[in-house]
Amino acid sequence: MTAQRLNGRDLANQLQTEIAARVSQFIDHTRTAPTLAAVLVGEDAASAVYVRNKRTACKRVGIESRLFLLPKSTSSSELERQIEQLNRDDEVNGILVQLPLPPQIDAPKSLELINPLKDVDAFHPHNVGLLALGRPRFLPCTPHGVLQVLVRSGLSTAGKHVVIVGRSDIVGKPLAMLLSAKDSHLGPEMANATVTLCHSRTKSLADHTRSAEILVAAIGRPQAITAAMVQPGAVVIDVGINRTEQGLVGDVDFDAVAQIASHITPVPGGIGPLTVTMLLENTLHAARLQRIERGLLSE
Ligand code: GUN
Repeated sequence: MTAQRLNGRDLANQLQTEIAARVSQFIDHTRTAPTLAAVLVGEDAASAVYVRNKRTACKRVGIESRLFLLPKSTSSSELERQIEQLNRDDEVNGILVQLPLPPQIDAPKSLELINPLKDVDAFHPHNVGLLALGRPRFLPCTPHGVLQVLVRSGLSTAGKHVVIVGRSDIVGKPLAMLLSAKDSHLGPEMANATVTLCHSRTKSLADHTRSAEILVAAIGRPQAITAAMVQPGAVVIDVGINRTEQGLVGDVDFDAVAQIASHITPVPGGIGPLTVTMLLENTLHAARLQRIERGLLSE
């Protein structure tokens, strides 16, 4: 069998067209554009590319973006002052602090300073808590991108065994929470999964992955998921983006796994473009929430 390739780029374009129409309505109504502040600390090449892609996508849908470039030597208190200034600025609706941060910075403390209503990454403990309770304010971008790929490909999760490999705060953990919930903003069919969350200390990893109807790889190790680890007919979602001498590769051995899976996302051009798109969705949502909070917009 040759798997159906789930094209994240096409899907992202389609979603961005829909978001652009909603941004345009928002601007007509409020006379202001939703605005994202992107904070980049240091010179990590990959982070610079991600931030540039995010800003390009903002422009495409009519969201304004502002870039705050801080030197590699920035201290925790300098970053905190920058975040506090962005919290106070009513023109800024979303604050994105690109990770990873340099080692001298206390990253959790800095991220906790972001006003939860401007936390478009959904990293703040308030927003993580709301997600855990099944009433999210913002959906974390990459997990939301995974849900969008599935729903727009007609693949539901209810009753399915989903195996997630990787327990990061950004992907594995929040995705497990979303998929095991009773309902989702996309309906109960896109929740209610039986979720197994595997990680670096999981024993007999292949026994778990082979039992997956939907397998999500979010490990950060190039081509770690081999064909022998995948059940024939499984849906395989590759969240990995690894820079190697061969270029960008995912966490899945694409060529081999595509021979046995029913559906598979490529890298690049799979989940990556959707992560960026979901950030746009969250920035528009943040702009609406802040106007509601100020009594300038009804729900
Ligand atoms: N670094 C890798 N992924 C992400 C993300 O989703 N958001 C931020 N802010 N930094 C990241």
